[in-house]
Amino acid sequence: MRVDIFTIFPEFFSVLDVSLLGKARTSGLLELGVHDLRDFTTDRHRSVDDTPYGGGAGMVMKPEPWGQALDSVVTPASTVIFPSPAGEVFTQRRARDLSTREHLVFACGRYEGIDQRVIDDTASRAEVIELSLGDYVLNGGEVATMAVVEAVGRLVPGVVGNPESLTEESHEDGLLEYPSYTKPAEWRGREVPPILLSGHHAQIAAWRRQQQIERTRRVRPELLPDELRELD
Ligand code: ADE
Repeated sequence: MRVDIFTIFPEFFSVLDVSLLGKARTSGLLELGVHDLRDFTTDRHRSVDDTPYGGGAGMVMKPEPWGQALDSVVTPASTVIFPSPAGEVFTQRRARDLSTREHLVFACGRYEGIDQRVIDDTASRAEVIELSLGDYVLNGGEVATMAVVEAVGRLVPGVVGNPESLTEESHEDGLLEYPSYTKPAEWRGREVPPILLSGHHAQIAAWRRQQQIERTRRVRPELLPDELRELD
């Protein structure tokens, strides 16, 4: 998979050199380009924003640098992601979907967002998805891009060494994850649930499933499938 990121803060993405995604880059599973939006400006001040038509607070990102920047990499085979609090909420389902793409392009907006014509123009040439990390406002798209790149990158075949560890996670089966324990069997007077030491695989699986259901009911009841909802 190839990933291109456009931002006015390229240094933000230096952390993608470390950990699993860093390894994926070294091994060639993930090709990453981080580009400074200001390199696509033509004026002396390298300006990327201007006041909004119609008035209002804040600044809007100018269309020209974004047009030049996206023209340099976008093809009809690209998927272009605009992180935005006004986008669809990013989920594990969307992460799985994006992990099958050949080329992802992230356009990190700042200020009050990017001139809408950039999004409309890009959508006439490639697939465009506006993605929100959640119902809160960040200062720009960089943190959201980092989250999406990590969630998608680890689903690219070969990036995570043991693919089984991907299927037993929160959200993969629609429920939150069960609690995990390792040695020692007792720590600060707290014991590991005895069932986990029993060696009864079927009973352990049943206990874990029950823990998932209880945790989801307590913390995220809206995620529970209808058949697991308690009637009251
Ligand atoms: N930019 C600002 N807020 C955001 C959010 N919640 N998700 C994605 N991009 C954003």
